[in-house]
Amino acid sequence: MRLIIYTGKGGTGKTVTSCATGLKLARRGHRTLVLSADPAHTLADAFMMPEVGHEPGQVAENLVAQQIDPVTEMSKQYSTILSYMASVFSAKGIDETLAYEIAMLPGMTQLFSLLKIEEVSHTGEFDAVVLDMPASGEALRYLYFPKLVGSIGRKLTGLAGLFSGFAKVFQPLAKIPAPSRSVIQSEVDLMDRLDSLAEIIKDSNVTSLRLVANPDTFSIENAKRAMMSASLYGINVDMAVVNKIMAGSSDAYYDRWASFQHGKVEEAKANFYPLPVKEVQLYATELRGMEMLAKHGDQLFGDEDPAKVFYRGQPYAFEKDGAAAIRMTVQVPFSGKDDFAIERYGDSLTLSVKTAAGKIVNIVPLPVATSGMKLARARLEDRRLLVLFEK
Ligand SMILES: Nc1ncnc2c1ncn2[C@@H]1O[C@H](COP(=O)(O)OP(=O)(O)O)[C@@H](O)[C@H]1O
Ligand SMILES: [Mg+2]
Repeated sequence: MRLIIYTGKGGTGKTVTSCATGLKLARRGHRTLVLSADPAHTLADAFMMPEVGHEPGQVAENLVAQQIDPVTEMSKQYSTILSYMASVFSAKGIDETLAYEIAMLPGMTQLFSLLKIEEVSHTGEFDAVVLDMPASGEALRYLYFPKLVGSIGRKLTGLAGLFSGFAKVFQPLAKIPAPSRSVIQSEVDLMDRLDSLAEIIKDSNVTSLRLVANPDTFSIENAKRAMMSASLYGINVDMAVVNKIMAGSSDAYYDRWASFQHGKVEEAKANFYPLPVKEVQLYATELRGMEMLAKHGDQLFGDEDPAKVFYRGQPYAFEKDGAAAIRMTVQVPFSGKDDFAIERYGDSLTLSVKTAAGKIVNIVPLPVATSGMKLARARLEDRRLLVLFEK
């Protein structure tokens, strides 16, 4: 099975790009499933078919679409644990409704959507799965839970233990309800599924993360951060899509927008280097329906198979240098001969490079581990930015 995940900022075109990819895969003979975890009925809107819902629905030959219902997915695995955690909070005098709210960690809904993939992978029903993932990468960190909790934790503490321990810290004398056997069993099962999901997602022959951005600073920065996180988590990113690019115009107002966007496309290419970048124009009408999705798919992939792995490698690499330093290497399309300036703003670096095409800004998101460190040195080599952080 091949898994393609599209991520990026809201409104950039993840859903339509997922559907277009799915359609092209299906037409090339791959048995394809398009999954969306969006709360709204976005797949139905994109395919212009009323029947796409929480049940798998046939959209075309070889093509099935399904809107994941996070509540259903969650209750399959998490309801026992959730009610236990809620009881821990209730024992602290927190209102039960609120307790449920707190026990749902951020990004958890997406995690349960990802678990759907683990389930699908066992059935062997599909050659390709395309996942339309709403927010960038938040859920991916949970894939590290099994490793974090470890083998002892699996038997004894796990998530529920983590929460009761958490509650203990705040009120050491209060009584914490002990987790029952079924709570512990649910946890072991959940950890096993997360483990198997992590295997799928970290296998670069199976999974590709693809970034979707528009020619604007915000969505490029958002996608760049997803690219950095993916590198940290060992997930292969194989393509970036810059969507909704305006064509030039005889009208001064629109033409100014077009030339601004042209600059942003160059910036996107520098930022997503060395990934292949696909450029897609802003169509004259809203992109939806089979015909436009097919056209979008052709523009993205031409004669190539969307199931191909378009790039393999590590745009970002991190290396610990003793206890007090981190070395970061970022691939950039510049060399040491280029005139550059580097500045740190909070959790990112900006690298401004003067090129023949004008000034290009590369955003370099930093991992949390560097937050307590200072930028000691930065050097531009041949197509690599080498940065040293020290305590
Ligand atoms: N290249 C494009 N040309 C015209 N409209 C587009 C294009 N790409 C996306 N759209 C439209 O933009 C809106 C947002 O797209 P969508 O795929 O829902 O974004 P996301 O899933 O990232 O939030 C939709 O109305 C879609 O039809
Ligand atoms: Mg969407």
